[in-house]
Amino acid sequence: MPDLKTLQAQILEQIAAAQDEAALEAARVAALGKRGSISALLAGLGAMAPDARKEQGAAINALKDEVTEVLAARRAVLKQVALEARLKRETVDVTLPVRSHGIEAGRIHPVSQVMDELGVIFADMGFAIAEGPDIETDDYNFTKLNFPPDHPARDMHDTFFFNPGPDGTRKLLRTHTSPVQVRTMLTQKPPIRVICPGRTYRCDSDQTHTPMFHQVEGLVIDRSAHLGHLKWILEESCKAFFEVPDVKMRFRPSYFPFTEPSMEVDIQCSRQGGEMRFGEGEDWLEILGCGMVHPNVLRNCGLDPDIYQGFAWGLGIDRIAMLKYGMPDLRAFFEADIRWLNHYGFRPLDIPSLIGGLSG
Ligand code: DAH
Repeated sequence: MPDLKTLQAQILEQIAAAQDEAALEAARVAALGKRGSISALLAGLGAMAPDARKEQGAAINALKDEVTEVLAARRAVLKQVALEARLKRETVDVTLPVRSHGIEAGRIHPVSQVMDELGVIFADMGFAIAEGPDIETDDYNFTKLNFPPDHPARDMHDTFFFNPGPDGTRKLLRTHTSPVQVRTMLTQKPPIRVICPGRTYRCDSDQTHTPMFHQVEGLVIDRSAHLGHLKWILEESCKAFFEVPDVKMRFRPSYFPFTEPSMEVDIQCSRQGGEMRFGEGEDWLEILGCGMVHPNVLRNCGLDPDIYQGFAWGLGIDRIAMLKYGMPDLRAFFEADIRWLNHYGFRPLDIPSLIGGLSG
C-alpha cells in the first residue's frame, strides 16, 4: 500500500506544475483516469478486510475529492492566464496607419451603393425600409395588387413560376417589389412611409434587361396623402440622388392595375456629345411609374379606402445606377469581373451621407 501522504504530495505537485490545459489533463488522467493512481487504490479496496477497507476507503475518497477540487481550481487559473495572454497578444494599436490592402482593396458594388444612397435620401424624409421575400405567392405578387385572375396584365411580367404545390397554387419569383407594399399594409397601421429595395426577376435578357434585377418601391398611406405630396417627394429625391440643384419632371398618364390614376415620370436631361446630364437640356428620359394606390388594393390589404389613401412608385435601381454612374451594359453588373468592380465599385469606407456627399 503506497503511502497516501506521499501520493497526495506527488499529485498536487504535478497539478501545480501544469502550465497549460493539456498538462493539467495529463495530471488528471494519471490520478483519476481509469488506470490512474487513485483509481487503482479504490479498485484495491475490495480485497481488504472490512475494517481496513472502511478506514482506507474514507481516506482515499477524501484524497479523490481534494484532487478533484484542486484540479478545478488550477483549470480556472490556467483559463484566466490563457485569456490574459490572448488579450495582450490581440491588442490593437490604434495609432497604426490604415492598411492599404485587405478591406480597403474590396469594392462596394454600384447597386449596393445606390441602395445605400436611396436609404439615406428617404430616411431623411422619414421613410423606413421594408423588405419581403424573393419567392412570393401569386396572391401577393398579382391578386392583391388588383391584377384580375387570368387577366393579360399578368403576362406583362415574364414571370418565373414554380410548379404548383399540393393545394394547386403556384409560387413565383417576384416580378416587382410591389408585393412588399401588400406585406407592409397587412402588417402595419397607417401612417405608412416605406421604401422597399430588393431583387426582382423576369424572364428577359439583353443589353438593358437581366433575368434578375433590382427595384425600389415607395409607399405612403395616411388619411390625406395626395398627388402633390408624391410629386414633391419624387422631385426632391431625384435632385438629391442625381446631386443636382434642380430637375424638371414630366408626368404622363399610364396604366398599372394597382394605381388609379397611374403615371409614368420622365426627367429632364441633355444627351449632348453622347454624355447624359440631368437637371439641364431639352430631352426627357423615363425613370419610374407611380400613382395613387387603387382602392381595391387598400381593401385587399385590410384598409378602408373611405378612410385611407396614399400613393406608390416603383423604379429600376440598376437603371438609375447606370444613368448616374455612366455604366453602359447592365449585364456587366452581374458578371463579377474584378476589373469592372475596381473601376465602377466604391471604396468601402466612403459611406453615403447627405452631409458628406452621396457618391463620395
Ligand atoms: N411594379 C411596377 C413594375 O414593376 C412599377 C410600379 C409602377 C410600382 C407604379 C408602383 C407604381 O408602386 O405605383 O413595372
